[in-house]
Amino acid sequence: MAHYLPLSRVARLVGVTRSTLQKMIQQGELDTFDGMVELEELLRVFPDVQWQNEGELDHVNAIKERAFGKRLMERVLPDKEVLAERLYELGKEFGSAKSLLQHYDQVFDWLCKQMSDVAVELGAEPAAAILALKHRLRQQLNAAPEEAERGKALLARESVMRIMSVHVTVQPSGHDFFVEGNDTLLEAALRTGIPLNYGCSTGNCGECKARLVSGQIKKVHPYDYVLSESEKANGGFLLCSYTAVTDVIIEAEVAGATDIPQQTIQTRLRNIEPLADDLVALHLFTPRSQRLRFLAGQKVSLGIDGLSGEYYIASCPCEDRHIEVHVRRDNQNFARKAFEGLNKDALVTLTGPEGNFVVKLDSHRPVIFLAWDDGFAPIKSLVQHVMSLEVADSMHLYWVSDRLVHYQENLCRSWADALDNFHYQPLSAKDGLARVIETIYAEHPDLKRCDIYAAGPAEFLEAARKAALDRGMSMLGWHMERIE
Ligand code: FES
Repeated sequence: MAHYLPLSRVARLVGVTRSTLQKMIQQGELDTFDGMVELEELLRVFPDVQWQNEGELDHVNAIKERAFGKRLMERVLPDKEVLAERLYELGKEFGSAKSLLQHYDQVFDWLCKQMSDVAVELGAEPAAAILALKHRLRQQLNAAPEEAERGKALLARESVMRIMSVHVTVQPSGHDFFVEGNDTLLEAALRTGIPLNYGCSTGNCGECKARLVSGQIKKVHPYDYVLSESEKANGGFLLCSYTAVTDVIIEAEVAGATDIPQQTIQTRLRNIEPLADDLVALHLFTPRSQRLRFLAGQKVSLGIDGLSGEYYIASCPCEDRHIEVHVRRDNQNFARKAFEGLNKDALVTLTGPEGNFVVKLDSHRPVIFLAWDDGFAPIKSLVQHVMSLEVADSMHLYWVSDRLVHYQENLCRSWADALDNFHYQPLSAKDGLARVIETIYAEHPDLKRCDIYAAGPAEFLEAARKAALDRGMSMLGWHMERIE
């Protein structure tokens, strides 16, 4: 009986990233069927994998947790009823597998008896051959091959995973994510950085309406929004009120930059982190009841005591309530306040988001990120978002600055250490624009299959774009944000 696993779960089982698996599929090293991997194929391709050791993936996740500031304490067990339902579903699967095995056993006994009967009717020679065949069949069945032992260990581990977290596929976008702990489907998608459409997140507006295509879901929060009878009959439900009990396929809308409404939120300043003499990072937290909806690469306005300024968000949308912005010392009133008199725990009014410098969520191509000095803020947000989505084939980050030290360089190096497909190179603006551009593209002679995201001054953007076009980049692959 063939057993198929979704690619994301295979990545977790064998301890590699999904982009590593995608590369293997492209290179013909791993066969899939409808995006699923068959158990035997998995054992063939990963014969030596240590099922108890999550290796690369563990390391990557640890770095991502640190980099994204996710709170491990929030990872809790699913609620009792959800656990009970998942166990019940697994029990049903186990029951049907067991009864199928019993049936095979009976068929085998029947076959043996038929062989014995036929042997009696034939002459001595064919009878001996049939009995020998029967004996060999028995031996074959009794000797469980090493392969079966490894398959057993893998299935056991997969079953535990399915109790702790279930897999969700979103149609028609094809995104997928896991639901862990007590997360609703909406919370789980946002944690992964998939911007499913929503509004209030409390069951009142209906903006997060979705349709269940297959699998089982369970209501975990009451809601006031009234779904019509035909919506309900058609599998309609609210992402903010339901969790998944089993692996599910849902139909849901993914929001683009223009779908996200303007929001005004009173945030609290948790920390002012000096990055350089003329630069600080503000770490703001939104209230639990009002998270900021935004996409990586967008900017917001910050205001306090009648002073305001506009800044790029440097954190990932997957970071829940945490918003990081980098403020440069300049003539904006808010910047002066940030350097001279902003207190920890101050209430800062945030309005936004704005901007279209966002990630192409459906692209699986290699990505090159180019940042010029504090153009790093939106690039940092984009890098983390792409990492969280695990969609890109490879990522190269080039950061040009004339500072002695690239602030937050340790973070960039930790990404490069953790991910095989992430490469980081700091560059000095003092080398001159021509030399910088030449260095960036030296490793990329052919850019036909690339997406480039660049943030910096006009002169840098123009030179980088022209050089990329000369190397075959499609106009659609170029995304830029001018920051002077
Ligand atoms: S987001 Fe408003 S009902 Fe779900």
